Amino acid sequence: MTTFKDKSFYENELDGKRVLVTGGTNGGIGESIVKRLTRAGATVITTARKTPDEMSTSDLFIQADISTPDGTTKIVTEILERFGGVDILVNNVGGSSAPTGGVLAQRDLDWQLTFETNLFAAVRLDRGLLPPMLEQGNGVIVHITSIQSRFPGENTMAYSAAKAALTNYSKGLATELAPKGIRVNTVAPGSIETKAAERLIKRMAENLGTDYDGARQNLMDSLGGIPIGRTGRPEEVAELVAFLVSDRSSYIIGTEHTIDGGIIRTT
Ligand SMILES: NC(=O)c1ccc[n+]([C@@H]2O[C@H](COP(=O)([O-])OP(=O)(O)OC[C@H]3O[C@@H](n4cnc5c(N)ncnc54)[C@H](OP(=O)(O)O)[C@@H]3O)[C@@H](O)[C@H]2O)c1
Repeated sequence: MTTFKDKSFYENELDGKRVLVTGGTNGGIGESIVKRLTRAGATVITTARKTPDEMSTSDLFIQADISTPDGTTKIVTEILERFGGVDILVNNVGGSSAPTGGVLAQRDLDWQLTFETNLFAAVRLDRGLLPPMLEQGNGVIVHITSIQSRFPGENTMAYSAAKAALTNYSKGLATELAPKGIRVNTVAPGSIETKAAERLIKRMAENLGTDYDGARQNLMDSLGGIPIGRTGRPEEVAELVAFLVSDRSSYIIGTEHTIDGGIIRTT
């Protein structure tokens, strides 16, 4: 019998698994999750609006805007046709493009798009990909939320509310699906230094008239400080996801896993 101490337990532990990770490009958390789960032996399909050159002929890439029902329908249809379904679904796409300026600057359109991207995309993909999972009697779903679901941002109120709804929905889904062999959990990252975050820090540095490290420190201060003293790396989030989708976490169901270097001070 394989035990947790055996190295072989971790290597190729996802052999034969079909996985969908949404938003696996652009040097973000999704890209790190794709790499990590591929290393574990899984066949990993990913999606984005823009097709990276290296994926232009790949069967493992589906171009779609996930914030529309047409986009999620395209993803579900192609996956069912090509692979018959997935064993593991990581709903990673999310974010906020709402304008700054507080609550009065947020128009209906901003709220709507934020909820489409951060909540309804996951709801639609779960609904589309659950039938074959239910039929086989096993599967794993991970939703990427955010610490902002408990710590609303000044200019990202719609994003925070959408992520809070995603956490709440995930709990209900986990309870309904656990007796049917499907585990659902959420991962709530704090400040993760993705390629997009690097670009944001560079823009902040220009605006503040400081250097990269100064702008990063400013960002960390705006979060009330990060006790570990640094931002997170996408690979660190991917490692947590790799654990949650593996059999090593077989008894973990319906819980939110915060990965934030200690930003959230409450229990
Ligand atoms: N980075 C952080 O500090 C942080 C903190 C807390 C939570 N999170 C959460 O972690 C997840 C990943 O965030 P990230 O920062 O890694 O994102 P990112 O670097 O901006 O990457 C986003 C990925 O999603 C794709 N994408 C974005 N909008 C899309 C859309 N409408 N339709 C289809 N694909 C779309 C992007 O490709 P295209 O642009 O080509 O579509 C890219 O592949 C999100 O749910 C985010 O809310 C991140």
